[in-house]
Amino acid sequence: MLVTQQPVLRKFWYAVMEMSKLDAGPQPFMLLGENIVLWKKSDGTPAAARDRCCHRTAKLSKGYVEGDNIVCGYHGWQYDCSGACVKIPQFTNEKIPPGARIDTYRCQEKFGYVWVALDEPLVPVMDTPEEGNPEYRRIHQFDEAWNTGALRLMENSFDTAHFSFVHKGTFGQFEQPKPEFFDIRETDYGFEAETIITINNPPQSHRITGSTEPTTKRHFKNQWHLPFMRRLGLVYPSGIHHTIFTCATPIDDRRIQIIQWLYRNDTEEQCPAALLNEWDVKVVAEDKVILESVDADAPVDVSRLAEEHMKSDRPGIIMRKRLLALLKEHGEKEVFSQAA
Ligand code: FES
Ligand SMILES: [Fe+2]
Repeated sequence: MLVTQQPVLRKFWYAVMEMSKLDAGPQPFMLLGENIVLWKKSDGTPAAARDRCCHRTAKLSKGYVEGDNIVCGYHGWQYDCSGACVKIPQFTNEKIPPGARIDTYRCQEKFGYVWVALDEPLVPVMDTPEEGNPEYRRIHQFDEAWNTGALRLMENSFDTAHFSFVHKGTFGQFEQPKPEFFDIRETDYGFEAETIITINNPPQSHRITGSTEPTTKRHFKNQWHLPFMRRLGLVYPSGIHHTIFTCATPIDDRRIQIIQWLYRNDTEEQCPAALLNEWDVKVVAEDKVILESVDADAPVDVSRLAEEHMKSDRPGIIMRKRLLALLKEHGEKEVFSQAA
């Protein structure tokens, strides 16, 4: 699926960067192929607009912020959050032409990230019970660009058969390649998939799992939220809750920004955030190598889809079915760069 060619995907909120990045001034981001500029207003909330000055097309992300407004670094034209040009420094008494404006986008802060919707969103950004709950801490994990498709990362997030191979260097059991399968319940937002998986528990992950046994179990409640976000609730036998949010924010048809954060019901003393991130960076780097090798927009092989010969592919098949239904509902056809 060429995500930039499917207008309905513009009607969702996407996490684009950590809010704290805006402290350094306006920042550029590409979302679904569109260049946007993000900045922080005087009340601390974020704003987003097209990253293109309407005077001589300079990128506004090269400019600066004044009060609530973004100022072009080329000749100083200034735009408010509605996109109207409110100041042209070279003018003295002349009226600013009404056509002098830029497109703006819906923008908000949530979970410490800036979220943007290019068009009127179909659903709000989800809530989660861990946020604001004093029993949990929130830990930022990654914010980086990968050369893969958004749907590829989502499929991978629900693919139990890759653990033994891709993650043989961390938690995967290479000698036991037969995967556990998810029980899948479809929901309005996508689906929830549940299973219990046995994992290797090397010394580096003892404080993460809360166990010193050589293997332990992970109870997965893994939610897929249309189109490209997942919430993975993991519970270990030790009683530790480890809830991961992963956003595959589509930069364009072949690149995503992977943004991931985590909630834990333990303390920094029990398991330092640096240790959690060091381990997860290792695990996710294993996924990155393989996901950057796959075709970003090739559809799932239709013969496999018919046979469902690997039950571990079912979540990916349901994702595709739901995405196709979404396109149909909005009068769109799926666009590919190549034939199935
Ligand atoms: S190009 Fe932006 S003010 Fe001239
Ligand atoms: Fe993985």
